Amino acid sequence: MTTPLAARPGFLDGLDEGLRDSLRRSIRDLWSHHSTALEGNSLTLGDTQFVLSEGLTVSGKPLKDHNEVHGHARAIELIYAMLDKDALAEDDLFLLHKAIITERVVDIYKPIGAWKAEANYTNFVSRAGKPGLREYPAPQATPRLMRQWFDKCNSAKPSTRDEVCRNYAELHILLVSIHPFFDGNGRMARLVANIPVLKAGYPPIVVPTEDRQRYLETISAYQESIANLAGLKDLVDLPAPETFTALCADYWSETMQLVETARQMRNGNGVPPAPTFPLPRS
Ligand SMILES: Nc1ncnc2c1ncn2[C@@H]1O[C@H](COP(=O)(O)OP(=O)(O)O)[C@@H](O)[C@H]1O
Ligand SMILES: [Mg+2]
Repeated sequence: MTTPLAARPGFLDGLDEGLRDSLRRSIRDLWSHHSTALEGNSLTLGDTQFVLSEGLTVSGKPLKDHNEVHGHARAIELIYAMLDKDALAEDDLFLLHKAIITERVVDIYKPIGAWKAEANYTNFVSRAGKPGLREYPAPQATPRLMRQWFDKCNSAKPSTRDEVCRNYAELHILLVSIHPFFDGNGRMARLVANIPVLKAGYPPIVVPTEDRQRYLETISAYQESIANLAGLKDLVDLPAPETFTALCADYWSETMQLVETARQMRNGNGVPPAPTFPLPRS
């Protein structure tokens, strides 16, 4: 089954139907591929495009990987449908979590569509080159920390390119630093931090899987700078993620380029070039 295309994000405004459909599919394929590949999915961009457009499978590749890209593509459609809402709430994130976690293991310690039920950890190598174990904030602190995350998400109304990028980077790094789910935190962060980006009329920021090492090292260095991450109770007083914000600005170039290309094609018959971002909302 192919994923249906429903609600329409603003970066498609001003394009005719054929171009809109192609651009929308390109962005869906790119976003779904990179975000799942960053977490180990073996489908290439070409495989992902084939699987999502044709509803067929790639010979010899795991069923789990096919389900994951379908789940991610479905989550993108859910996000587009959420763009008209004034505020994002817990249930919206839970719905997205249910879409992306496609391995259905019945385990009370692995809740799907709910906050984590037990402590979670990652291993890392410190800036000084030493191995370490990192504990994320406690499950008991998660609802409070996420309420603060929602306040940030719902109160910021970024509009310039710089403001939007800064807001994306902050929402993304805070979500992966809270690590509110037992799994899926990376994919969730790369989805939901894009909601204000899309609301402002821009295409999503897509972290390329080729930059995985730098992406993880930058997030890890930020988390290392938080004195007591496991005991975190408040998001106030956390440092601004300057290095990560600069990276995110680079990560935006591929989808921006796709949109520019579509606009130039629209103007292919001697019509003057389209204005640059953001397009006025119709
Ligand atoms: N060593 C690390 N230091 C900091 N952040 C990390 C580290 N390893 C992974 N992450 C963050 O956590 C995400 C992976 O978390 P996880 O819950 O497994 O999400 P997913 O299932 O989407 O992979 C990564 O994408 C990254 O954002
Ligand atoms: Mg994972």
